[in-house]
Amino acid sequence: MTYDWYKDAIFYEVFVRAFSDSDGDGIGDLRGLTSRLDYLQWLGVDAIWMQPICPSPLRDDGYDVSDYFGVHPDYGTLADVRALVAEAHRRGLRVIVELIPNHTSDQNVWFQASRDPSHPEHARYRDWYVWSDTDDKYRDARIIFIDYEPSNWTYDPVRKAYYWHRFFSHQPDLNYDNLEVQKAMLRVVQFWSDLGVDGFRVDATPYLYEREGTSCENLPETHAYLKRLRAFLDAYAPGTMLLSEANQWPEDVLPYFGSGDEFHMNFHFPLMPRIFMALAKADRSPIERILARTPDLPGDCQWATFLRCHDELTLEMVTPEERAFMWDFYAPEPRMRLNLGIRRRLAPLLDNDRRRIEVANAILLTFVGSPVLYYGDEIGMGDNIYLDDRDGVRTPMQWHAGLNAGFSDAQPECLYDPVIDDAVYGYRQVNVAAQREDPDSLLTWMRAMLALRKQHPAFGRGALQLLAPDSPAVLAYLRVANDETLLVLANLSADPQEVTLDLADYVGAVPVDLLSEEPLPRISCDAYELQLGAYGYRWLRLG
Ligand code: NOJ
Repeated sequence: MTYDWYKDAIFYEVFVRAFSDSDGDGIGDLRGLTSRLDYLQWLGVDAIWMQPICPSPLRDDGYDVSDYFGVHPDYGTLADVRALVAEAHRRGLRVIVELIPNHTSDQNVWFQASRDPSHPEHARYRDWYVWSDTDDKYRDARIIFIDYEPSNWTYDPVRKAYYWHRFFSHQPDLNYDNLEVQKAMLRVVQFWSDLGVDGFRVDATPYLYEREGTSCENLPETHAYLKRLRAFLDAYAPGTMLLSEANQWPEDVLPYFGSGDEFHMNFHFPLMPRIFMALAKADRSPIERILARTPDLPGDCQWATFLRCHDELTLEMVTPEERAFMWDFYAPEPRMRLNLGIRRRLAPLLDNDRRRIEVANAILLTFVGSPVLYYGDEIGMGDNIYLDDRDGVRTPMQWHAGLNAGFSDAQPECLYDPVIDDAVYGYRQVNVAAQREDPDSLLTWMRAMLALRKQHPAFGRGALQLLAPDSPAVLAYLRVANDETLLVLANLSADPQEVTLDLADYVGAVPVDLLSEEPLPRISCDAYELQLGAYGYRWLRLG
């Protein structure tokens, strides 16, 4: 039996805290999300990926787990998870939850017991974390949250030793050399599988093990454990999908697919900034170059592609020159920058220019992989760079023009974060209700494009063949599957383009525009001519 639904799926990332508040406490929750499933079904997504919902002090919005076997009281109960999953399944939607194997919160009882020699469970948990008497081991490992952390080691006065952490100092890394830790994470996976979830987005996969003299990333031991996790899941809950977050170059990500026996999916991190770079420069070559570096995947595997997510737009997988360019172009103000990235949402990044937002999405929906949309980007939500860390791209979902944008009945002062209320992106202008009514809205357009993508499995499964039109501003490619060939064109510039394509292999075919169903002139010789407006795009069927 094959379980490769994710190859055709459109994913929707949702921050439960931000989506919909059912009980008026100013915080989004699982019941709120469940009440919005009709919307997500209407929109046409296939799978919902929820950011962390486990108990946590929320110093990293739940990526600091204090208990893997529960639900944060802000969000609801395990019964609410079951209800959400049942209601999602009833609508044909799948539910993906987070697995955060690399680190816990420092409030987790595992860490509390590990750090404290007088804790009754200390003997059991002593070696569950990476402790050292000095802070000079693993010097070759980079620091990831460079704006916050001076070192990957922090001294703990209780244990009187240093502990290792790749992220915030309140997120100690688990010690995967310890067999009990290995088993504990399998129990976590088992627990959440029992709740009926369809998959896991696995956080920070490259960092599970540490070895002296290495970058402590992508180590063979890490891959061996991840394969064990996959084998466990295949046996325990066959068909459960694993999506890895390895922010690495394509050649370093390839091993995370194994030979089809590690992850089903990995995010394609390096592609994402290059879509923005290509648009900024009106030049397709950054996309061409990263595609040339993108390997074919083993049978049932698939890339997950995205434009924006809950984190900063990461610029880790670009050269220093490219990073400087991206910062200058897309993050002119210091508050727009964070770590090695840009903390802005899609619409503001693209100057709220509908043409650029459309062409970026038109590429996302037709290029390699399965697209992952970020909540709110379907209506062009804005951001708030005056909030801390990445909070500015995690503000309440804008449902309608009424109180709190329809997110919550609480007093506006009680919301976990303020609703965006500025002149351009404020909820009175930008909201779901208004856009649902408007046949020309971004939301209406997104919904139509999602439906169109789903009618053509070649977008998820076909081979991708780049074409080479004269103008560097035109990105053109074929998606070739057994029963259909699709041609996609995207103009990365504000100047209209006359495009001449070599379609010698398709002489005799009558291209049909997928959007309008209108036929185009028959391809009668190898040089086929088309026009594209400013930031225009076309999706054509060649036969
Ligand atoms: C990656 C997550 O996407 C990010 O939000 C988080 O802060 C780090 N991992 C640490 O868990």
